[in-house]
Amino acid sequence: MVKRSSRLSVSGSDEGLPLLGVNIDHIATLRQARGTAYPDPVHAAALCELAGADQITIHLREDRRHIQDRDLKILSETVKTRLNLEMAATEELVRIALEARPDTVCMVPERREELTTEGGLDVASDRGGAISRAVRMLQEAEINVSLFVDPDVDQLRAAKKVGSDAVELHTGAYSDAKGQAARHAELAKLVDAAKAARKFGLQVNAGHGLNYTNVIPVAKIGEIVEFNIGHSIISRAVLVGMMEAVAEMKRLIFQARSL
Ligand code: PXP
Repeated sequence: MVKRSSRLSVSGSDEGLPLLGVNIDHIATLRQARGTAYPDPVHAAALCELAGADQITIHLREDRRHIQDRDLKILSETVKTRLNLEMAATEELVRIALEARPDTVCMVPERREELTTEGGLDVASDRGGAISRAVRMLQEAEINVSLFVDPDVDQLRAAKKVGSDAVELHTGAYSDAKGQAARHAELAKLVDAAKAARKFGLQVNAGHGLNYTNVIPVAKIGEIVEFNIGHSIISRAVLVGMMEAVAEMKRLIFQARSL
């Protein structure tokens, strides 16, 4: 097991700079689409770290549609920055997390039919106490816990009440907002929620749907310590790497003829 600096901080990096967690789920989506061994999220994680990622984020979904148990196992050994595991608050996943020992678990709601995580966790009506039980078990194992919630003060208060270390504010409604007025209104909710969460003493993270055109206003919210961004970065990587990938294949084909 690698020794990582795993403590959460309410102020970001040692220099007080915001942190970037890169969610590499969709590297695994590409792999699972063909059932091949590539592209390997383990390789992608190393490249993200070399490029300056502060954290690697993966979501082990109950249906295993992208990240697999094998990925979690290897990444928990090889990630050198911090490993953030997103998961539902189920007994099975808590057991897996306790074994893999990521630095952080971010608990998310999960519905099998959804394309991606829709809406935040309803911590305020923690039915059956599953969330608070999971928080307690993970923290007892010295795993930091974050709860993925909508920018809603009742959810933040509930997150504090169940003893979470951090919240990740769901930026999906902001990212999906159509038109300037709607986007401003969603941004205002994020600003208020970030301030409230900080007041409650929670570390404030944010993520979902952030991309190269909408991230700047959210990045300006000083209370946010960590951004978890996936789909847009992986999508960009496919395009910025396209010319090299095509040229490399062409070289191989030409070389085969010149033998
Ligand atoms: N944060 C959480 C809690 C998520 O569930 C996701 C999606 O897996 C992300 C961040 C990343 O979202 P996106 O892929 O839209 O950047």
